[in-house]
Amino acid sequence: MNIIILSRSSALYSTQSLYRAAAMKGHFVQVIDHMYCDLLIEDGMSKVFYNGYELQGIHAIIPRIGATATEYGSYVIRHFENRGVYSVLKSESLLKARNKFTCLQILSRNGIPIPNTATTNYSEDLDGFLELFSEHPIIIKLLNSTHGEGVIKSDNSSVSATLLEAFLNLKHKVLVQEFIKESSGTDIRAFIVGDRVVAAMRRTAVGGEFRSNLHRGGSSTSIKLTNEEISLAKKSARILGLQIAGVDILRSNKGPMVIEVNASPGLEGIETTTNVNIARSIISLVERNSKFRL
Ligand SMILES: Nc1ncnc2c1ncn2[C@@H]1O[C@H](COP(=O)(O)OP(=O)(O)O)[C@@H](O)[C@H]1O
Ligand SMILES: [Mg+2]
Repeated sequence: MNIIILSRSSALYSTQSLYRAAAMKGHFVQVIDHMYCDLLIEDGMSKVFYNGYELQGIHAIIPRIGATATEYGSYVIRHFENRGVYSVLKSESLLKARNKFTCLQILSRNGIPIPNTATTNYSEDLDGFLELFSEHPIIIKLLNSTHGEGVIKSDNSSVSATLLEAFLNLKHKVLVQEFIKESSGTDIRAFIVGDRVVAAMRRTAVGGEFRSNLHRGGSSTSIKLTNEEISLAKKSARILGLQIAGVDILRSNKGPMVIEVNASPGLEGIETTTNVNIARSIISLVERNSKFRL
């Protein structure tokens, strides 16, 4: 098969892992930077150009779209979709999952338990808005952040109001969420490929940190999920139309809760923690779903 990995760099762990897995199965693989693709709609035909050449004869794409490239990345994916090329990540699913508030709205509508969450668009009565939460600390999150970078724990309402005011004035969209204190410093990442959880790990933050992201220095171990967590992870991915997903779950006193679903989850942490060759499962998924047959 002729496979494209859409990625900003062939030096990234996930890109290399996918490249190796595809090449080992005898596929022709190219790494293409989606930010340098030109997109043409000509006489109703969608055409993708890279370095001046039109990309043709492609059977499948594996998009690895980072948080700063969501919008343009979705254009590139949609162009391939318009040509009938199989993508492991649908453009619409990327857009639904990437915005944390949109994602939680869709999950909650479909019965997935999530922490109490709110958002606001104006800053005139932030004290009133914050009264929607009966107690502090609360969590404030930038809607398009990753790696724990835009996730803040605020211990009192005057700090919360100041932070919200600053973000709203800067036109940064945020959500406010109840702090699940019983899970502080740990979360679970369930990795979905197709309709299965292929690997899962528990991440634990270091020191007094409450964010368990590995990019924040957290550590990780393989973990066996409960049946409830497995079905929650699978259902969350299915609702968003994701065939590959990293579902982040908190173990709360009220049961497991989903905090976010990553549409382009990294492979490094999960592969090295669990020793599962996830890239190989992803290539098998591509083989099963692409229209190309030998
Ligand atoms: N409501 C919450 N209560 C307690 N901890 C949280 C909450 N939301 C996030 N966290 C912690 O912060 C980390 C990052 O939050 P997350 O929503 O997954 O954003 P990111 O996209 O930056 O990973 C989580 O892995 C978890 O450890
Ligand atoms: Mg996360």
